[in-house]
Amino acid sequence: HDADAQRAFDDLIANERRIEPRDWMPEAYRKTLIRQISQHAHSEIIGMQPEGNWITRAPSLKRKAILIAKVQDEAGHGLYLYSAAQTLGITRDEMTDQLIDGRARYSSIFNYPTPTWADMGAIGWLVDGAAICNQVPLCRASYGPYARAMVRICKEESFHQRQGFEILLALMQGSPEQRVMAQDAVDRWYWPSLAMFGPPDDQSPNSAQSMAWKIKRFSNDELRRRFVGMLVPQAEALGVTLPDPDLRYDADQGVTAMGEIDWDDFFAVLRGDGPCNAERIQRRRTAHEEGAWVREAAAAYAAKQAAPRTE
Ligand code: ACO
Repeated sequence: HDADAQRAFDDLIANERRIEPRDWMPEAYRKTLIRQISQHAHSEIIGMQPEGNWITRAPSLKRKAILIAKVQDEAGHGLYLYSAAQTLGITRDEMTDQLIDGRARYSSIFNYPTPTWADMGAIGWLVDGAAICNQVPLCRASYGPYARAMVRICKEESFHQRQGFEILLALMQGSPEQRVMAQDAVDRWYWPSLAMFGPPDDQSPNSAQSMAWKIKRFSNDELRRRFVGMLVPQAEALGVTLPDPDLRYDADQGVTAMGEIDWDDFFAVLRGDGPCNAERIQRRRTAHEEGAWVREAAAAYAAKQAAPRTE
C-alpha cells in the first residue's frame, strides 16, 4: 500500500502535476516544505521591521503612503505563507513560538540596519529584486498551496522592486549629498542581497533533494548569477556602481565572473550574531505579547457567535 502511495506521488512529481494537502506525501517532503515555507513566512513578517523603521520619517506624504502599503503587503505575504504551511499540519501557534523563541530561521537579510532613507530604495531594488528572482521559479513548486501563494506574492514584489528603483533614481537625480547617500546604501545592501540566495551549491545540504522533489527549480548559485546579470544594466540606468571590482558582464553571456561573498559574515548572521538579530526577535516577541488582548477578544467573539442563541 505504501509502495502504491509512493508511486502515485512520484508520478505526480514526474509529470509536473501538483501535490495537494490531502495527497499522500513522504514525511521528509512534508518536513522540508514546513521548514522552507515557515522560514519564508517568518522572513516576510520580520522583514516588516527594517522598513517600518522609516514610516514615521518618510520624506513626503506620498512616500509615506507608499511605504505603509508596502509594509502591509509584507504582512499579507506572511499570512498567506503561514496558511500554506498550516495545510501541512503545523499550527500557526507552533510557528509563532518557534520564531519568538529564536528557534526558527528567517532570511539573513533582515538582520541589517536601515540608517538612511536611501536604504528604503536599496531594499526595494536589491532585496525585493533578489526575492523575485528566487521566488518566480517557486510559482512552479510541486506543492500546490505554496506555488499558488507565490503567484500573487511575486506580482506584489515586482511592484515593490519598481518603487525601490524609483526611490534610488530620485536620489541619484538629486543633490550630491543624495547621490552619496544612494551609493552608500547600494554598497551596504549589495553583498547581503547576494547572500539571500543561500550558501554556495557545494555547501547547500538541502538543494539536491529539494530539486529532485521540484520544490527548487534552480540552484542557489544559478539564481544568484542570474540576479547579478539583471542588476548590471539597471545599475547603469541608475548611475550607481555595484561594489564588486571583480564583476565581469557581457550582454550575450551575462555574468562571467564575480567576487567572493563574505560567507563568514553570512554564517555569523545565521547563528544569530548579525547586527540586528536580537533586536528583531525582541521586537516580534513584544508585539506578540502586546497583541494578546486582540487574540483573546477575537476568540471570545468567535465563541459567542458559535454559541446557540438564547432568547
Ligand atoms: N538566510 C537565512 N538562512 C538561510 C539563507 C538565508 N539567506 N539561505 C539559506 N539558509 C539556511 C537554510 O534555511 C538552511 O537551513 P536549515 O537546513 O536549518 O533550514 C541552510 O541555510 C542551508 O541552506 P540550503 O541547503 O541552501 O537551504 P534551502 O534549500 O532551503 O535553500 C533558500 C535556501 C534558497 C533560501 C530556500 O529556502 C528558498 O528558496 N526559500 C524561499 C524564499 C525565502 O524564504 N525568501 C525569504 C527572503 S525574501 C523576502 O521575504 C522578501
